Amino acid sequence: EIEIKIGLFGVGGVGKSTITTRFLKNIFIEDYDPTIDDIYIKKNDLNNKKIKFNILDTASQDSSYDPFPNYVRQTNIFVLIYSITDKHSFEVIKNFDKEIKYILDIEDKDYPKVLIGNKSDLTMKREISIEKGKELAKELNCKFIETSAKTGENINQIFYETILLEIEL
Ligand code: GTP
Ligand code: MG
Repeated sequence: EIEIKIGLFGVGGVGKSTITTRFLKNIFIEDYDPTIDDIYIKKNDLNNKKIKFNILDTASQDSSYDPFPNYVRQTNIFVLIYSITDKHSFEVIKNFDKEIKYILDIEDKDYPKVLIGNKSDLTMKREISIEKGKELAKELNCKFIETSAKTGENINQIFYETILLEIEL
C-alpha cells in the first residue's frame, strides 16, 4: 500500500474543501462554509497497487493560535491552490512556498508540490491567465493544473499527480 499525505494549501475561498468533496464524493458544494480543519481518507486501487490518500483540508482563517506549522509537518505532498478569479490568492502562493520551506528548514532545496489554479469554469471572472499560472509553476519547479471543482475538470488529475510525486520520493 502506498500512503500519500496530501496537504491542501491556499487562502480562504479558493476551493480546498470543494475540491476535496468533489474528489471523495463526486459532488459540488455550492455553499461556502469555512473549514476548521479536517482529515479525509480515501482508498483506491491503481494498476493493482493500493493507494491510501490522506487528505488534510486546512483552515485558512485567522485564529488565536497558528496551526500552519503543524499542517506543514503533517504533509508529504503539497498542493498549492489559488483561484483564477482572485488575484490576491495567486500573489500569496509565493509566501506559502517561503513559509513551507522555512518550516521544513530547507532553504534552497525543493519539496514535492503541485500548483493548482481552481475555478476554471468562471471564465468571465478570470483575473489570472493560464500563462501566469505556468510561469509561476516554472519558478516553483512544479506541475501546473487548472481545475474546476464545479464541473469536476482535472480534479482527479490533482490526486494522480500526488501519486507520481509520492512514487518519486
Ligand atoms: P476555507 O475553508 O475558508 O479555507 O475555504 P476553501 O478554500 O475550503 O474554499 P471552499 O471549498 O469552501 O470554496 C469556497 C467557495 O467557492 C464555495 O462557495 C464553493 O462552492 C466555491 N467553489 C469552489 N471551487 C469552485 C469551482 O471550481 N468553481 C466555482 N464556480 N466555484 C467554486
Ligand atoms: Mg475549506
